[in-house]
Amino acid sequence: MGPRRSDGYHELVTVFQAIDLIDELRVVPAAELSLEASIIDAEAETVVQGEDNLAWKAAALLQDRFDVTAGAHMNLSKRIPIAGGMAGGSTDAAAALVACNALWGQPASPAELFELAAELGSDVPFCLRGNTALGSSRGEVLTPVLTTGELSWVVAASFKELSTPAVYRRFDELAGDAVPAPEVPADLMAALRIGDPERIGAALHNDLQRAAISLIPDLDLLLEAGRDYGAVGAMVSGSGPTTVFLAKDADRAVELAIMLSSTGLCKWARVVKGPAPGARVIPDSGNRPRVVPVT
Ligand code: C5P
Repeated sequence: MGPRRSDGYHELVTVFQAIDLIDELRVVPAAELSLEASIIDAEAETVVQGEDNLAWKAAALLQDRFDVTAGAHMNLSKRIPIAGGMAGGSTDAAAALVACNALWGQPASPAELFELAAELGSDVPFCLRGNTALGSSRGEVLTPVLTTGELSWVVAASFKELSTPAVYRRFDELAGDAVPAPEVPADLMAALRIGDPERIGAALHNDLQRAAISLIPDLDLLLEAGRDYGAVGAMVSGSGPTTVFLAKDADRAVELAIMLSSTGLCKWARVVKGPAPGARVIPDSGNRPRVVPVT
């Protein structure tokens, strides 16, 4: 992570990997735009509804820029933790762009969709693309990263939420004035190319982790527990508070998820695979576009 720029964003270099923890967005034709959101397997949590949801903003931006007069009803079913540092909102925005573009007869080319994505948020372009990529600038400039094989991750959701700008502010406070320019993580890129989980795990690093832990100190205990239970790598995802653990293989990932679930330090722990594709349309039997975005 580099210093804060004059536009308020931080210059960064990051390796993104999409995993198969999926939100689903069902889109059907309608005269106006509308959006209803819910959370799968969870109650008593708040999810942003209607115009304030980034998926709605994505559809509205596409409508506006390409003079689309049609609307859409969007039904969003969420699995990705909210305010969790997993680019869940960005994933839903990418899904809305792809789904509404399909529903409205492809007014935007793939390149134009990519530009709209960057306007909506730093992580939205990656959520369109998926797989594994090196992000630079504020995260929206992407270069594909070569990887070998599939990785078995465990995602542990926090009981708490963190605001991304608040974590970046804390990062600034902790870093002070001496923030060096960000560098491409050569060791991680080499490990991904070979596909060796132990080398990848050893190379995992997140500059925002210290800031996230200073806001939620229990995250450190959870990371330590994961390492004790055999994770070859453990870190806070993005700006947190979701934590991710790399396992040596799929069986060890299952054991790790069970152990982490029993600590009482996380809301749930789930085994996922990476890399996974980005937002894509899956037409349903009624021939209506349905998008399964992946982050
Ligand atoms: O681009 P996005 O809207 O997702 O960014 C959310 C917030 O995260 C920004 O308002 C900013 O505070 C912070 N951010 C940053 N540097 C980045 C990306 C995000 O400071 N490269």
